[in-house]
Amino acid sequence: MAGRATFTGWGKCVPPVKLTNADLEHLVDTDDDWIVERTGIRERGISHVETTDLAEVAALKALAAAGLEAADIDMLILATVTPEITCPSNACFLQERLGAVNAAAFDLNAACSGWIYGTATASSMIAAGVAERVLLVGAEKLHWVMDYWDRATCILFGDGAGAAVLEPSDTGEGVLAADLGADGVAGRTMVFPTLGTRGRLSSVRDPFVHRLHFDGRAVFKIAVQGIEASVRRALDRAGLDLADVDAVIPHQANERIISAAARRLGIDTDRVMLNIGTHGNSAAASVPMALVDALEAGLIRPGSIVVQTAFGGGVTWGSTVTRWGERVEPLGGCDAALPACDETVFDLLAPNRDFYAPLHPDPAVDPVA
Ligand code: UT7
Repeated sequence: MAGRATFTGWGKCVPPVKLTNADLEHLVDTDDDWIVERTGIRERGISHVETTDLAEVAALKALAAAGLEAADIDMLILATVTPEITCPSNACFLQERLGAVNAAAFDLNAACSGWIYGTATASSMIAAGVAERVLLVGAEKLHWVMDYWDRATCILFGDGAGAAVLEPSDTGEGVLAADLGADGVAGRTMVFPTLGTRGRLSSVRDPFVHRLHFDGRAVFKIAVQGIEASVRRALDRAGLDLADVDAVIPHQANERIISAAARRLGIDTDRVMLNIGTHGNSAAASVPMALVDALEAGLIRPGSIVVQTAFGGGVTWGSTVTRWGERVEPLGGCDAALPACDETVFDLLAPNRDFYAPLHPDPAVDPVA
């Protein structure tokens, strides 16, 4: 056994163009108060580039923070539900882009739980000696599947990427335990049927099939209960109690889900990372972006016990428990950035509005069920 996997580098990429609640008021029948009160979200990133571009910036920052070159990586895992195409994988695109010539590469789909599944996979591979230096990335261009006529879903999601490098350590730090789970029956609460082989061959995309279908209330309940149970199981496996936890980095789906789960666990909100206000729900990118923000905010300190937890489409859920290492500062900086964008958020969302318009012949009526 090669020891535990510890986080040695981290980075994120946030698109420069924001979709604010005020912007949404121009698109759907909603208002800032409703969105903030029900979700905690004020703005979210809308990407003018592809998933790989977001992933690349986050990955370069993570590599610099770990003091490594791309060629040092021997495994690249990219968690996403919005890959550019199905084959080659987005991970292979990224491997080429970075010049990570010594890395095996694959995509991982566990929706919003992708980062947690990825962390468990990376740390198990390191412990088993299959990989030594893993680059784990969560990246999403979720606005691609978003119907910006449907106020119940389009207010929630944003684009972005987060990345980390995991390496072996024999000093007691690293990923101590993980809990992973899934329930395919409940999976019907959150579906976007596009990007697969289901259905008839057709060169025309059907907007109804393409869009995200989602039962927000059902997901809400599953999420609160799922997170609580998963965190308890992961801590139990690590031989730790809730009182030992210094920082919780939850999937940023809804501030009310996070507070309800924290309340049920008896964890004060000052130990919980919240950045949903500025990012929205960015699926597999959500936890790693929150992890980076937690490090920058000083929520994670040397030796902290850190719980990362998520739930998402599938449905899937998972939690990891990590004893952070001594280093909470990056070894090196990196000025990688996305190209500038000269389009407005309304320009970027215009194709979505046109594409989904046939589903909403009368925009005054509530969106299609
Ligand atoms: O990553 C995992 C995926 N996603 C999630 O975790 C999200 C989980 N679910 C949620 O976050 C919440 O269920 C939502 C934010 C989606 C909805 O919040 P809610 O408090 O459950 O609202 P609701 O669905 O019960 O809707 C209450 C009312 C409805 O009107 P009526 O039927 O009471 O007249 C909705 O039509 O609010 C209406 N509504 C809106 N009003 C203003 C729904 N969306 C909006 C909106 N603005 N954007």
